[in-house]
Amino acid sequence: MTINKPNSKAMLKRAHENMPLGVADSYRYWGEENTVFLSSMKGCTITDCDGQTFVDFRIAYGPVILGYRDQRIDNAVIDAITNVGAISGFSTGLDSDVVELVKSMCPNIEKMRFANSGTEAVIGAVRTARGYTKRNKIVVVEGGFHGLHDEVMWKSDVDNWDADSEQSPDIISFGGGIPANTRANQVSIPLNDFAALDAVFAQYGDDIAAILIEPIMGNCGSIASTQEYMQKLRDICDANNSLLILDEVKTGFRVAKGGAQELYGIYADLTTYAKAIGNGYPVAAFGGKAKVMDTISFASDGVTHGGTYTANMIALSAAKATLTVLKETDALATINRVGKDIQALLSRVFNKFNIEHCFAGPDSMFGVHLGSTVPQNYRDWKRTDSELYTAFAMNLIENGVMLEPDSREPWFICEAHQTIDFAWLEQVAEKSMADALKA
Ligand SMILES: Cc1ncc(COP(=O)(O)O)c(C=O)c1O
Repeated sequence: MTINKPNSKAMLKRAHENMPLGVADSYRYWGEENTVFLSSMKGCTITDCDGQTFVDFRIAYGPVILGYRDQRIDNAVIDAITNVGAISGFSTGLDSDVVELVKSMCPNIEKMRFANSGTEAVIGAVRTARGYTKRNKIVVVEGGFHGLHDEVMWKSDVDNWDADSEQSPDIISFGGGIPANTRANQVSIPLNDFAALDAVFAQYGDDIAAILIEPIMGNCGSIASTQEYMQKLRDICDANNSLLILDEVKTGFRVAKGGAQELYGIYADLTTYAKAIGNGYPVAAFGGKAKVMDTISFASDGVTHGGTYTANMIALSAAKATLTVLKETDALATINRVGKDIQALLSRVFNKFNIEHCFAGPDSMFGVHLGSTVPQNYRDWKRTDSELYTAFAMNLIENGVMLEPDSREPWFICEAHQTIDFAWLEQVAEKSMADALKA
């Protein structure tokens, strides 16, 4: 991909002296030839340090909901840090401004607390659930992702699993440094599998603090819970006095103003948000029912929550501006329309080559799967032609369309994508698939 990328190569060489793998986040390392170094971003485009501009469907793994360098958001941040200040370790009225905006869009939120990343929001929600229920176990779903903290850094090894075997995939850690005992309180089940859910509650019901789930798996090709499964999750939690935590770090303020919960009409006890809440500024939150959130207190068994950078002015001014735009304009309707058009365009290309394909999840973050039926869980994903997808994606990148070359990462749409040249995109997609098939 980086055939004529002398600046990128020089940047990586320098960075190798300074950071493991030469990057600040291991997932940014795409190998010696393909690691991307940018010089600027604007709207729905990014430009690398060798001057190639890409239309970006990766948009930083989802947070850029409006577009890069959106003046409506950036000006609000500049105003806050110029006229108020960045951080004080005290409260301001901005805290409640943002919570009230969230509450006006998300009926599942009665009280909320802030965090700086999705990881931190999940840690806060899980601790609050345990504090409230006085139980330990958390049920998670295969293929879900909840951040980089030890307890959720266990995954089903579907990559090395034989889809024709009767066995479940092994559960492995994300790598070194994760103590084996951090798995002790986690139980993993396949998505949309009612029997597995019943079995887990039959075995551990009185110690299950919460089910923690991405209702639409933004880290697994947007494979989504069915309506019936979401209802089952709600019902089984209620029947067992467990809490339902919906991790809406990717779906929140993206798939609808009220997130996935608005689409399903099923509401969580606790919800986590990050990403789209601040159009890319580092802000996150968790919240839910007041009686649950009020477990956060100085009582002897109260839950502790806080942090130096929590609710800093940069984060909250960005969140207030972004949420105001999402609430008061038709940005999300535009995003959905553009996402639908792009899926139609991709379908035309795949049909031209007689490639079986389907799309998973909502139009604002759709997964592309090369197979005949929409996967219902992570194990089904293994039956799709992810290798052809990766070859196609690598060719798209070479031709100026940036995305993650792994079909487990959806295509993310932002408001600024409405300006792209769809005819150009279709041409590039056609060429990229033709070349992938040739190879
Ligand atoms: C659903 C979900 N939860 C949690 C996280 C962790 O968020 P962060 O990377 O901001 O820590 C992510 C990140 O992609 C996510 O997609």
